[in-house]
Amino acid sequence: MRNSVVIAILLCSVVFDCVVAVGDDVTRQVSEDFPGENGRFTRPTVVRTSGSPWPLPQQMASNGSQLVVRSLTFEFSYSMYSCDILQNAFQRYHKLIFDGKADTKLRFSSARRKESGTSKELGGLLVKLDQPCEDLPGLESNESYSLDVNNSGAVLSTSSIWGALRGLETFSQLVYETEDGQKVINMTSITDWPRFQYRGILLDTSRHFITVPVILQNLDAMAYNKFNVFHWHIVDDQSFPYQSRAFPDMHTKGAFKPAYRHSYTQGEIALIIEYGRQRGIRVVAEFDTPGHSQSWGLSQEDLLTPCYSGGKPDGTFGPINPMLNSTYDFLKKFFAEIVSVFPDHYVHLGGDEVSFNCWKSNPDITVFMQQMGFGDDYSKLESYYIGKLLEIMQTLKAGYIVWQEVFDNKVQVEPDTLIHVWKGGYQDELGSVTKAGHQTILSSPWYLNYVKDPYNQDWQNYYKVDPQNFSGTQQQKDLVLGGEACMWAEYVDGTNVIERLWPLSGTVGERLWSAADVTDVKTAGPRLAEQRCRMVRRGIQAEPVTGPGYCLYEYSP
Ligand SMILES: *[C@@H]1O[C@H](CO)[C@@H](O)[C@H](O)[C@H]1NC(C)=O
Ligand SMILES: *[C@@H]1O[C@H](CO)[C@@H](O)[C@H](O)[C@H]1NC(C)=O
Ligand SMILES: *[C@@H]1O[C@H](CO)[C@@H](O)[C@H](O)[C@H]1NC(C)=O
Ligand SMILES: *[C@@H]1O[C@H](CO)[C@@H](O)[C@H](O)[C@H]1NC(C)=O
Ligand SMILES: *[C@@H]1O[C@H](CO)[C@@H](O)[C@H](O)[C@H]1NC(C)=O
Ligand SMILES: *[C@@H]1O[C@H](CO)[C@@H](O)[C@H](O)[C@H]1NC(C)=O
Repeated sequence: MRNSVVIAILLCSVVFDCVVAVGDDVTRQVSEDFPGENGRFTRPTVVRTSGSPWPLPQQMASNGSQLVVRSLTFEFSYSMYSCDILQNAFQRYHKLIFDGKADTKLRFSSARRKESGTSKELGGLLVKLDQPCEDLPGLESNESYSLDVNNSGAVLSTSSIWGALRGLETFSQLVYETEDGQKVINMTSITDWPRFQYRGILLDTSRHFITVPVILQNLDAMAYNKFNVFHWHIVDDQSFPYQSRAFPDMHTKGAFKPAYRHSYTQGEIALIIEYGRQRGIRVVAEFDTPGHSQSWGLSQEDLLTPCYSGGKPDGTFGPINPMLNSTYDFLKKFFAEIVSVFPDHYVHLGGDEVSFNCWKSNPDITVFMQQMGFGDDYSKLESYYIGKLLEIMQTLKAGYIVWQEVFDNKVQVEPDTLIHVWKGGYQDELGSVTKAGHQTILSSPWYLNYVKDPYNQDWQNYYKVDPQNFSGTQQQKDLVLGGEACMWAEYVDGTNVIERLWPLSGTVGERLWSAADVTDVKTAGPRLAEQRCRMVRRGIQAEPVTGPGYCLYEYSP
């Protein structure tokens, strides 16, 4: 793969004019107009590209010859295999290309538009899918595709429905609008595949409740940026919005009030999973234990450890009580349900930030520690708990992801445990996790909930990170499956979560999809500006991140 990238870049410069040849001519210094203070206004204004895909494909050549596409005549078709996912995508992408929420007026003006006459029309896109559709996306899904748009037509070739979806997204992004309102596409040839197979967004729905339409809109935005995992951090200390079939008290007592308005029904969860599936996005649910589980205790008596002070229980509770058999009876029943509700092979089991203070205060735990021969090493107690939980998950034939502390605390985990790195010092951590032979995903540099200073063009910092930049062998680096941008919800809800995630997460999307050497912020900026405008046109409230500028269609509620 590495070699072919190099070849493509050479081809691109020898045979074709390269698409991404944006340099000084598109960055305009505005310092003369606005001297500004503290250098604020001396930053360049980024000028949007026209028809440049985001994330950048692995191999792409384009020569600037345009074909016209028209709403009334353009058709998607397929040869060999099709399925509901492909048919639905055809409908979606026809709308996205011709009826972005912002440009529905276009058809009225098309009658008055003067035809350029010289341009040939592209009548449609043929999708050649040479294998039957798979039912569910997964870690092993093949998302590669190739796309040719030229005088003889447009063809998207792939062996998997997931590749077809990624290719359709790219195709829709190649179409752009000229200044006289015509939709055109440049002749282009693309061969594309993701650099990493795990490209996720974490959304926390416990610190604030996020309504279903907002979650669905976020799934749309994820598809526009080729993400394939929705990590749903569904419950936490603050609230329990998951409506359990087996334990209905958990949301009625654990969700924000009124609970019916602040929890997800089984029907809504199924809708979210299906919406993701239609877009090639896995839904990986996280039920974090033994810490971060205060809201579970509101309904499940004896589940949490009672904390002691002055020799008696003080009415507060700590992590899940690892010494009781009833704990594991509950977990068996609970996770059996979770595995049946969420079809993805993986469940995220959390395991982060387990405080040992409460366990230390509890005399029963102290006795249990002695019986078990744990001494005063409470990480052995944590290990005991996680070990039993993993056994349960194995019985249920589920895969599991855990936060890095489980590894750091030397909990005995199975070799196939996926370790999620989130703390500072992540380069060392990636080194030791992969040295131990574990697969891993990275989030540390991508906590988008931290509000940054837009004047510093923070998107560039997210963009510059490379998940394989740590010391280790190639074999170790291959254990990095990808990463996740995280949106913890202490200070976000439906009012601001979309604009805080987008288009910034897109920089993570490109890092995880595009070739390792696609790192130049100077050429990325103009494409990111176009990608933002594209999302705005599609109704996503994506905020400006590259400085002063404009879109063809501005956001309007
Ligand atoms: C498409 O072609 C037009 C006209 O030649 C050119 O201005 C534009 O930069 C091209 N876009 C891409 C992404 O190559
Ligand atoms: C662009 O490439 C296509 C073939 O892919 C060719 O038909 C067309 O003439 C080329 N246009 C220019 C301006 O070179
Ligand atoms: C034009 O596209 C077709 C697929 O439609 C492809 O087979 C062919 O190689 C392309 N031609 C050029 C000159 O790129
Ligand atoms: C993915 O599919 C492509 C064809 O679209 C194929 O060439 C490639 O080998 C497949 N990759 C894997 C890992 O199976
Ligand atoms: C808990 O289960 C173990 C083995 O399953 C058993 O030996 C033990 O007696 C049980 N403890 C209690 C308090 O029931
Ligand atoms: C890799 O990380 C080192 C140390 O943090 C940093 O100096 C270097 O610029 C990084 N290189 C790349 C290619 O990201």
